[in-house]
Amino acid sequence: MRSADLVVAGCSELVTCAGPLPKRGRDLRRIGVVENGWVASSGGVIVFAGTEDDFQAQVTPAPGAVTIDAHGRLVMPGFIDAHTHLPFAGDRAREFGLRIQGWTYQQLAERGMGIQTTVKATRAASLDDLVGLSLQRLDRMLLSGTTTAEAKSGYGLNLEDEVKQLEALRDAAALHPVDVVPTFMGAHEVPPEYRDKREDYIQLLIDTIIPEIGRRGLAEFFDVFSEPGVFSIEETRRLVAAAEAAGFKIKIHADEFVSQGGAELAAEVGAVSAEHLIAVSDEGISRLGASDTAAILLPGVSFFLMMDKRAPARRLIDAGAVVALASDFNPGSSHLSAMPFVLQLGVFTLGLTVEEAIAACTANAAYAIRRHDTVGSLEPGKKMDLLVCDVRDHVSLAYEAGRNPVRTVIKNGQVVVEDGRYKAVSRTIL
Ligand code: NIG
Ligand code: FE
Repeated sequence: MRSADLVVAGCSELVTCAGPLPKRGRDLRRIGVVENGWVASSGGVIVFAGTEDDFQAQVTPAPGAVTIDAHGRLVMPGFIDAHTHLPFAGDRAREFGLRIQGWTYQQLAERGMGIQTTVKATRAASLDDLVGLSLQRLDRMLLSGTTTAEAKSGYGLNLEDEVKQLEALRDAAALHPVDVVPTFMGAHEVPPEYRDKREDYIQLLIDTIIPEIGRRGLAEFFDVFSEPGVFSIEETRRLVAAAEAAGFKIKIHADEFVSQGGAELAAEVGAVSAEHLIAVSDEGISRLGASDTAAILLPGVSFFLMMDKRAPARRLIDAGAVVALASDFNPGSSHLSAMPFVLQLGVFTLGLTVEEAIAACTANAAYAIRRHDTVGSLEPGKKMDLLVCDVRDHVSLAYEAGRNPVRTVIKNGQVVVEDGRYKAVSRTIL
């Protein structure tokens, strides 16, 4: 018999998203639905996930164990948001107003707005400002069921301000239940002071900033916006080589608006993920399909930029690619972070089945940030990170469009959201 200190009982459906991982092709639909499921953990680690009968035969609650009755609701793994630009300052509501009047995202960028607006605000912010903003955003994400989030710098664009963004992530993560996975994205854009000498900025990244961030151990991943007009394929290649030499794992913003072979390069260099892919080429699709590089799709971007063009999710799945979904939370191209909505966009705008969208927001998303050994599915040995949602079956996660169904969030075996409200744990108010 296994001993448990926390038991979640009586789930109408327990969606485990159990392996083998990652899930490719037809397997993306296999989300392991157990009717009348039970889950149990000990010390924040899952010891059992399965049927009531198996629970009774295999698990003994320890003295004083807590039992949470799911009351016939759906239980699933916490969402993994595999792509966010979390630690920025300011907002771009005014520019959003211009976009509604017909300006495009690229036209704003060409006139020194867009990312540059946020660079100015982020450089002007203090470390404490950024910690506070990050905590506020992590609170909102947690209320929508995100239990692990990747987060990119990339609005500092010099050593000091990139370090400030990454330190803000480190400090916010220490105060917050959501697990934060930091990515250094100094190659998000060429900063304004280097507009006429872009090669100097690339050299500064390669010679100084990338090695220094690597030495300080502030980020696990390196990411670069590989896009015509931002960083070319050759520049991407050089930056990636420098980042690998400094010990980073690689992610690439690839083929967001125009393809320049970013997906192909990501597969070639063995990147952990290629992200965006709205404009991915046929060759890029088949290269990703044959690789271990995850395809992180961000349906919030086509939605928020009101674009008809969408990432070719079905073709990527059919090609065998590891497809994940994420929010791309940022102030310009996807100002949204609620993963239930991202799941719904995956179904309504990318044509995924509900099962595929669930796996893409959990198990495959965990793989896309290399956390699949610990989170993303409810299986013995993984973290007790789960959601109780007030729907009876998993199809209703999409059917009840526009609604946040998350009522209870358990993180590391602790109840951190109860009845849809944040339950402060070890939080210092700044
Ligand atoms: O993922 N593609 C580049 N970066 C972000 C947008 C950043 C911004 O607009 O501030 C993205 O879409
Ligand atoms: Fe992004």
